Amino acid sequence: MKLTRLTDPDKIDFTRELNGDVWKGHLSVPDYQFRDRLLAKSPMCQDMRIYVVTESEDINSTDDIMSSVEIIIRDGYKYNSKDGKVEKTLVKNGCIGGVFTNPKFRGKGIAKFMIDELNKICDEEDLEFVILYSEVGDYYSRCGYESFHVPIRTRYIDDYEAKIFNGSEKYSVDGFDVELIDYQGFKEVMDLHNEEEDKRIMAMNDGKSRVVFAPSEEVVNWFHLRIKYFCYNLVSSPEALKTKAFDDIIEEFTSYEPKKLGIKVSKNGELLGYVIWTFELKMEEEPIFSCKILHMFSKGSSKTRSGSDFTIKKLLSDLTIDYMKYSKKHFKVASVSVWTSDVDEAFGGEVQENSSLSAIRFKNEKSIWENNNKLPWF
Ligand SMILES: CC(C)(COP(=O)(O)OP(=O)(O)OC[C@H]1O[C@@H](n2cnc3c(N)ncnc32)[C@H](O)[C@@H]1OP(=O)(O)O)[C@@H](O)C(=O)NCCC(=O)NCCS
Repeated sequence: MKLTRLTDPDKIDFTRELNGDVWKGHLSVPDYQFRDRLLAKSPMCQDMRIYVVTESEDINSTDDIMSSVEIIIRDGYKYNSKDGKVEKTLVKNGCIGGVFTNPKFRGKGIAKFMIDELNKICDEEDLEFVILYSEVGDYYSRCGYESFHVPIRTRYIDDYEAKIFNGSEKYSVDGFDVELIDYQGFKEVMDLHNEEEDKRIMAMNDGKSRVVFAPSEEVVNWFHLRIKYFCYNLVSSPEALKTKAFDDIIEEFTSYEPKKLGIKVSKNGELLGYVIWTFELKMEEEPIFSCKILHMFSKGSSKTRSGSDFTIKKLLSDLTIDYMKYSKKHFKVASVSVWTSDVDEAFGGEVQENSSLSAIRFKNEKSIWENNNKLPWF
């Protein structure tokens, strides 16, 4: 048995044919394969790799693949306290996804072999930490990962009476200026986030080391490309996209719903907070969308996670659910969920266990994982 990196797109398609039943949603296998080829062209996936476990060198069909896994290697930071000062270093980190064993080979330790081998590659390449989101409980602890349970809060649209949103792109509420954010329009808010988080972490000069994945608008754009593709497939055949360049597809998607994917709040011209969402789609008699908040942030969170930013986060929560109620003109949204690492009591709603556990493995000594939220996920 050996772990090999696949680079041939046709062979990579075998892995999607195998795992399609678990992850393709309402897409056909070819449309799912095309979606993943498209997502792989995103700037976020510049260093994305697919590895497989096989018995022999020859990979001619799905049967030749025992297990497969994807990893995206990206930038992050490590904050170390030294001589009473915090030092920040750029570090590489990985995010693992798509762990899958061909049903014919399950229960033989092949996934464990695959992750153990991948761990060795990550260490050799000096990745400071690797994260993943487990859908199989604490399974990855056997490969050196420590799991975290981050509960989720959910508010249901039906229970909510729309009251604020009036259909305009910009409006005012309680003295705050509110603006909807368009697809691909997230650079300004992610820059605010990175600047504020850097200040917050630098200020925690307590002798402990911390790591953080550095998200950018490219990460947000990746999530949005994924939901745009799903939605495009509800109304058009993706065949028409297959001959187009990546940038032309991005451009074409601007005219399809969902067009608004976030809200920002300012006062006297100062950006104070934002919410960014995506959707998950379930096909029933009609498509039902659940709004998943990718990130909610307010400037006050640099002081405390539950104090001065409470007002802005509560406002952002209400604005989001209000907009979702209004969106039923275009598509039916059932609920809005958020990770409690972004917002807790201010969001309201029901607290539920997160069916995915976040997990992390460090190459060197353990550090505190800051911003364990939905953004690093893929
Ligand atoms: C999870 C998966 C990759 C394991 O592959 P595998 O090669 O059989 O894994 P291993 O032989 O190393 O380990 C098998 C263990 O995984 C556990 N496992 C499998 N599915 C599980 C699940 N849904 N929840 C918890 N544990 C699970 C098995 O119970 C078994 O435990 P045991 O060793 O204590 O008996 C495989 O079942 C699979 O492809 N599942 C569908 C896709 C998926 O859910 N992937 C995980 C995404 S995070």
